Amino acid sequence: MSAENTTRTQVGIVGAGPAGLVLGQLLHLQGVESVILEARDRDYVEGRVRAGVLEQGTVDLLVEMGVGERLQREGLVHHGVELRFGGRGHRIPFDELTDGRGITIYGQQEVVKDLIAARLEAGAPLLFEVEDVMPEGIDSDQPSLRYRHDGQERELRCDVIAGCDGFHGVCRPAVPDGVLTAREHIYPFGWLGILAEVEPSSDELIYCHHDRGFALHSMRSPQLTRLYLQCEPDEDIANWPDERIWEELQIRFECEGWSLKEGPIVEKGVTPMRSFVAEPMQHGRLLLAGDAVHIVPATGAKGLNLAVADVRVMAEALVKWFSTGDETLLQSYSETCLGRVWAAQHFAWWMTTMFHRHPSDEDGFMARLQRAQLDYVCSSRAAATTLAENYVGLKKVSGG
Ligand code: FAD
Ligand code: PHB
Repeated sequence: MSAENTTRTQVGIVGAGPAGLVLGQLLHLQGVESVILEARDRDYVEGRVRAGVLEQGTVDLLVEMGVGERLQREGLVHHGVELRFGGRGHRIPFDELTDGRGITIYGQQEVVKDLIAARLEAGAPLLFEVEDVMPEGIDSDQPSLRYRHDGQERELRCDVIAGCDGFHGVCRPAVPDGVLTAREHIYPFGWLGILAEVEPSSDELIYCHHDRGFALHSMRSPQLTRLYLQCEPDEDIANWPDERIWEELQIRFECEGWSLKEGPIVEKGVTPMRSFVAEPMQHGRLLLAGDAVHIVPATGAKGLNLAVADVRVMAEALVKWFSTGDETLLQSYSETCLGRVWAAQHFAWWMTTMFHRHPSDEDGFMARLQRAQLDYVCSSRAAATTLAENYVGLKKVSGG
């Protein structure tokens, strides 16, 4: 490799999703250099519609990092959520149950836009449309990332690699066989999600249990509604013309004195539901974060928040190591993160199991258990608090 095609940095970050971009910004603020390599182009990354619920801790961190100005202006702060079943709504008041805490609705792609703008403004390197990224030497103290950019083969030498490249990335598979233990649960259903140009039909999110399957009412702004329907995991979106989607949503959300507003659908897609964790979240000079190492079903709204929580721990560990040579936090990175990861896995699994119709539930046994659980959550302060404190985000999690 010629000298002009070889560069050096302290942290080589793979992936410009929330994990990679938050990590890059945290490191930049503490004087640690990094280069972010992203496979897709900027428009694609900024346009990808995904999560929308930010925990208080995520919002606080983004504000502290100096990327919260638009978030604080445009984000919708929610102090509760509605659980709807048997055609009736029941409100869980987060603020009352969690000392005034809540969530903020702000699209993941808006967070990503704000972080990309901050990175480019800081003049820190972020390369889009990078091909064939390959982590090398992770067992040595001189790891590197080989990649192709603008038709040129290049090498980025670094002290450590941060694998923030999502579930289908190249970093997790770069760990030698036998090192990671992966645990997985695949659910026998998926979500069909739409974005519609219509004002939300409720001020808060509605998680709806119905005999025909789960439905969720969410939003992105006072003019944009986000809605989801439980569907087959491999559902063909072509089978769902707009009229059929609205018809099904109207049936599932039906509730006296309430109606679902309809508008032009501007985006639709199907997401499978999966729980996955690979442990440990590090090997040698490779640290993994976010979807690259764990996936949660979207019912708990935890995916984006977990990715941010991981890189917050990682940034602190790296800053300490680079500034003092002390490796203690770096070595315990995985253990520190896994407590929160498994707590979020449990919450997401519990919410998913409580709300979705199980395809094998022929005599309705599961559905009756779900209704009993939902009745309990809505009538017991202790059970409602369990939902509320997990939903707004656990402050401290021990274990791992
Ligand atoms: P990602 O956002 O996946 O970012 C990884 C980045 O790495 C991407 O930009 C990708 O292009 C890049 N990359 C991948 N491979 C390479 C490579 N080889 N080289 C360089 N770059 C690479 N969560 C919710 O809470 N609610 C939701 O409704 C919801 N919907 C979702 C819908 C979909 C289709 C998906 C996939 C996820 C959804 N999630 C949702 C989960 C949430 O969006 C993720 O948890 C979050 O994006 C994790 O951030 P991340 O930075 O770890 O990974
Ligand atoms: C969303 O607004 O996209 C959203 C909200 C809550 C969830 C999942 C997705 O649990």
